[in-house]
Amino acid sequence: MKKRIFSGAQPTGELHIGNYLGALKNWVALQDEYESFYCIVNLHAITLPQDPHGLRQKTLDLAKIYLAAGVDPAKATIFIQSDVPEHAELTWVLSCIARMGELERMTQFKDKGKGNAERAGVGLFTYPILMAADILLYQTDLVPVGQDQKQHLELSRDLAIRFNRDFGETFKVPEPYIPKAGASIKSLQDPQKKMSKSDENLKGAIFLMDSAETITKKIKSAVTDSGTDITFDESRPAINNLLTIYQLVTGKSGDECIAHFEGKGYGQFKGELAEATVEYLRPFQDRVNHYSDKELAEILKNGADKARAISSATLADVYHKTGIK
Ligand code: TYM
Repeated sequence: MKKRIFSGAQPTGELHIGNYLGALKNWVALQDEYESFYCIVNLHAITLPQDPHGLRQKTLDLAKIYLAAGVDPAKATIFIQSDVPEHAELTWVLSCIARMGELERMTQFKDKGKGNAERAGVGLFTYPILMAADILLYQTDLVPVGQDQKQHLELSRDLAIRFNRDFGETFKVPEPYIPKAGASIKSLQDPQKKMSKSDENLKGAIFLMDSAETITKKIKSAVTDSGTDITFDESRPAINNLLTIYQLVTGKSGDECIAHFEGKGYGQFKGELAEATVEYLRPFQDRVNHYSDKELAEILKNGADKARAISSATLADVYHKTGIK
């Protein structure tokens, strides 16, 4: 039997090349080898205020982005989180075994809550429990994510282990899949910070639907560090980040990238990086509107049916073991 993957992204803001290289690209690469579930996590989205008129559209647009990136509905299950009510139900049960202290340690809550726990939403605080429910419902083996989700994944593992200990073997304990290169793509304007959908500085992120002209402008105005060599060097985070993007969009090895730019300057490097990025995103951009609304609705309906078949069995087991039913 194939091992199982679960992953998801939030339909908030526009997806950027960090989401693509850190997560989506690997979803596509792994879908042949694993039984894959890729979820559009709209319940997670409302942990921060969303425009209700825009959210539904963004949810459907994100499904189109999964498909355009190459997630194949004949191989992988694509579905919307809220179409499978088991996610919210298991979240409640897991909330009853999660501890305040472990949630308080989540760095993303501190970042997104802007350090003001008094005023932060309770949903933002319990967000990682919903993520654990997502993963554990499917008896998931592997979760491909970027570096920023590692801590949430550790919590999912801890909750699975605790539940199994207290109520008997129920959940598989999932492993993270965090790529060696691309797990944390940085802002083009501040390489100390990760590239983010919510960055106020729009020049910091390359969005998946940016035009060739915009991509080129953003790359040309990316900050660089002192020194002139185009090489991988953790102590020069700006060039390290740009060269990582180059490596991933061209598919070259690290050594090939270094050799290619030996003796060349930043001007030439940025020109080639811009060109390679535009070429990399072009087929994706061409495919975004490949499916009609009707086809999309069908894919999502089939996805939700497949997801429910598995998640309802897990939830029934949980309710049985906890004495709820
Ligand atoms: P989200 O929507 O913020 O991001 C989607 C995926 O993109 C990765 N990512 C990055 N990778 C590299 N560099 C970056 N700068 C970068 N920014 C984001 C994220 O790590 C993620 O893999 N909580 C999750 C969604 C979620 C989920 C799940 C994921 C909900 N339930 C269950 C896996 C399993 C999130 O907010 O991702």
